[in-house]
Amino acid sequence: MSVPKAELHLHIEGTLEPELAFALAERNGAELPFASVQELHDAYRFEDLQSFLDLYYRLTDVLRTERDFTELAEAYLVRASAAGVRHAEIFFDPQAHTSRGVPFATVIDGLWAALRDSERRYGISTKLILCFLRDLSAESALETLSAAEPYLDRIVAVGLDSAEVGHPPAKFAAVYRRARELGLRAVAHAGEEGPASYVAEALDVLGVERIDHGIRVLEDPALVERLVRERIPLTVCPFSNVRLRVIDKLTDHPLRLMLELGLVATVNSDDPAYFGGYVQENLDGVRDALGLSDEHLRTLARNSFEASFIDERTRARYL
Ligand code: ADE
Ligand code: ZN
Repeated sequence: MSVPKAELHLHIEGTLEPELAFALAERNGAELPFASVQELHDAYRFEDLQSFLDLYYRLTDVLRTERDFTELAEAYLVRASAAGVRHAEIFFDPQAHTSRGVPFATVIDGLWAALRDSERRYGISTKLILCFLRDLSAESALETLSAAEPYLDRIVAVGLDSAEVGHPPAKFAAVYRRARELGLRAVAHAGEEGPASYVAEALDVLGVERIDHGIRVLEDPALVERLVRERIPLTVCPFSNVRLRVIDKLTDHPLRLMLELGLVATVNSDDPAYFGGYVQENLDGVRDALGLSDEHLRTLARNSFEASFIDERTRARYL
């Protein structure tokens, strides 16, 4: 069953398919440490979040020009449109590019060339979420937010991603305060590999409205009760959780339990080129592995719009 849905947890850099990576490497004269597309495919076996991030950052080196970022985003929109995605809030990691000498403007102008007309061309409304890399410094995050100030009309929110353990949300209190002063919304990855306490800290210290991943909240029943009561959405990424060994196998995934506890859970693809599928494959996968009913799937679709940052009138069309 493919119903209209919003995708709320999608790293645009994580949609870089091996074929496009090789094509861009050739066009840009960039070196890839793999002899073939197949060899790269075979490297998609991860021990944990860090082993994935090492490859993810290594491959971003092929993205150098505005055109590269435009082609990356267009390829995602084609796939998302076919999967019934009607609204997408898309993460991008500017520091993964500015740290290599690619200007912020190249990244955002390239992405925007694909996104600005996405509703007319692909039937998908889109917004960008600027993520700070949490294993870099708080000062670097503040500099990144300053670089984004001329482009705030393209950005709906700030987010926090990369290596979680040892980089608690409170490290970024100042940059989130500044982002909210600028009128941006706020989300953060928390409770993926890190503890449930990072979820509470993201809510209380950063003021986030939505938690990315959050599956480790299940270790804290009082926090689960709070998320249910306050209707704080969780953007859950089942294939990612298996590939990064947050859980052993899809049949062990707690998504069904999360829904039955009353959590506002949504299903998303995270880094689909690396984890074996886009949002529809994730939905089909959990439906089959967990025996989800059509009612569960309708709830997931409804949750995705409830959890989104689209305006109230548009949201009402989908609820
Ligand atoms: N960056 C890209 N994917 C990520 C994930 N699943 N967790 C943290 N940072 C990421
Ligand atoms: Zn993510």
